[in-house]
Amino acid sequence: MDSMRWLAPAKINLSLKILGRRPDGFHNLSSLMVPVSVFDTLEIALKDVGDIEFVCAAPGIPLDDGNLVVRAARLFCSTFGFPPRLRIVLGKEIPHGAGLGGGSSDAATTLLALDALFQTHLARQTLVDLAAELGSDVPFFLVQSAAWISGRGEQVSPIEGLPSVPLLLVKPPFGVPTPWAYSHWKESEEIPGVPYGEQSTAAGTLCNDLERPVFQKYVLLAELKRWLLVQPEVEGALMSGSGSTLFAVLRQKQCGVALKERLEGEFGTQIWICLCETIPQKSDG
Ligand code: C5P
Repeated sequence: MDSMRWLAPAKINLSLKILGRRPDGFHNLSSLMVPVSVFDTLEIALKDVGDIEFVCAAPGIPLDDGNLVVRAARLFCSTFGFPPRLRIVLGKEIPHGAGLGGGSSDAATTLLALDALFQTHLARQTLVDLAAELGSDVPFFLVQSAAWISGRGEQVSPIEGLPSVPLLLVKPPFGVPTPWAYSHWKESEEIPGVPYGEQSTAAGTLCNDLERPVFQKYVLLAELKRWLLVQPEVEGALMSGSGSTLFAVLRQKQCGVALKERLEGEFGTQIWICLCETIPQKSDG
């Protein structure tokens, strides 16, 4: 049984503006999202018999139909009439509950992988419609480049010309539930002394409306942002999505190691720290 291996990148939101709450409970957004070089891996093989066999060794990841990978595979197979005889092995590098889109990326990559394995050659819009059923961030990961996102996330407009920039990703040992962050956006208030305004950086203009509710409850994140912003290596710092990851845009890639060590000295080694870069365009390789 041959299996193929796929890479599912994480993302950050360089900007996230909430335009308002919709009657369906979701929020209309305008967000600039960009893939980053931290990857989950998916190995998918067709089997002769049986049902979906899903393997993931990472702790805390559901192995049943609650997992977006399994839901994506079931949706694909039931929509196009294929028996779900698949073995899928997921390797997790992207932390969960982090605002980095790991589960959404895994689901989008599953759709792209099955389109290739079953040779269905689906139109982009067909894939987008399936992706939007799985989650608001899933359509973004089909385009594999930086993109402006609107609607609840299902409208994706790829953009060209953004530079690749070095990043330090920083995630404390807790996650933020996305529904909680959105549902507290409207009545939340800024913490005095914490900078929330737009920051102009080589990566683009940074700003995230979800920082306001999330920082109010998870004050450590506000402290981390303030700390990052006064480090000489850091050009800008922002929370990604609904958190709990913050990213720092670095002035130079080489300075990331020293910053990482100082960060661990200040906030402890329980914090997940990752040096990576944005991938604004898919490479041709
Ligand atoms: O679509 P997804 O399952 O990722 O969304 C998780 C939750 O985040 C939604 O149930 C909703 O509470 C909130 N959300 C929102 N507006 C969006 C995206 C997500 O309110 N555009």
